Amino acid sequence: MATTTVCVPNEAARDGIPPVPEAVRIIMWDGFGDPPAGVADTEFLLGAYMGKPMPVESLAMMPRLRVIQLLSAGIDLWRPVLPEGVLLCNGRGVHGGSTAELAVTGILMLLRHMPHFVSAQQGHAWSPETGESLDGKGLLVLGSGDIGNRVAAALEVFGAVTTRVARTARAGVHGIDELPELLPGADIVLVSVPLTHQTRGLLDARALAALPDGAIVANIARGPIVDTEALADETEAGRLRAFLDVTAPEPLPPEHRLWSAPNVIITPHVGGGTQGWSRRGFQLARDQIARYVAGEMLHNVVSDDY
Ligand SMILES: NC(=O)c1ccc[n+]([C@@H]2O[C@H](COP(=O)([O-])OP(=O)(O)OC[C@H]3O[C@@H](n4cnc5c(N)ncnc54)[C@H](OP(=O)(O)O)[C@@H]3O)[C@@H](O)[C@H]2O)c1
Repeated sequence: MATTTVCVPNEAARDGIPPVPEAVRIIMWDGFGDPPAGVADTEFLLGAYMGKPMPVESLAMMPRLRVIQLLSAGIDLWRPVLPEGVLLCNGRGVHGGSTAELAVTGILMLLRHMPHFVSAQQGHAWSPETGESLDGKGLLVLGSGDIGNRVAAALEVFGAVTTRVARTARAGVHGIDELPELLPGADIVLVSVPLTHQTRGLLDARALAALPDGAIVANIARGPIVDTEALADETEAGRLRAFLDVTAPEPLPPEHRLWSAPNVIITPHVGGGTQGWSRRGFQLARDQIARYVAGEMLHNVVSDDY
């Protein structure tokens, strides 16, 4: 039986992924430092979660490479180093639930004035303010995929009215070309599209200006999809509110003006990677390795236009 060499980035993956089919040999390398024996036989490569992509020179040492499997849904950092002819699979589903939870948390915190109450509590002050309910709020979901659909389902329970946008129009989903007409009706915009050449700067100054006063921009996808300076202008002016788990640049420098803009809540890219994520991630890797060895279709294959 031919041996399939699988290269994993660290001890956690090496110890957490098995059991794998008998004919699989696991080696460990993240592409930095000396390569291990057998690296040239690698057919299936697992990328490190939240780590740097493997350098091009290291990937060039794997002439038999067929598949790169990532543990994140976002593939933007790996796209530029992807060798020709190698299939790229993402970690869609591994972090979707926890990231959607965080988006819901941030949106509710803004609607219910949580920053005000937290700071009032620190001063032992009983300081009522009238918050807003989700009932009847227009939720515009940019990217009707795993995260977008989970957030929509959660907010609809409380009466939010969802409008969905994806790459192409289909039943119940608008095409991205319709975005300009949809922005004025959005009380909340959830940004849950991948970062691609099409989505970079999607919410630019003009798009943000089309949102109604008081709208919330919730970005849990990637920072460069929203124009940071334009968003800072809008939030500093008190016209828009924002929940940001991702920013451009990242990390956001301590002196950046977004930190102190009113009605902006920032978390440091912690939507995914919650405790226990590796159980789902290694299960996905284990299943994909088994499919690859059996010659079956892989899941989560990322199309070329991503
Ligand atoms: N903050 C975090 O820790 C964290 C964690 C996980 C993921 N993320 C980010 O969130 C993104 C979304 O994750 P997901 O799991 O929900 O992905 P997903 O299930 O693949 O959904 C992506 C959605 O975006 C749409 N889309 C893609 N390109 C588009 C374009 N040019 N214009 C309009 N819509 C477009 C897709 O449209 P179709 O349905 O037409 O294909 C799909 O509906 C990831 O790419 C990643 O960058 C962040």
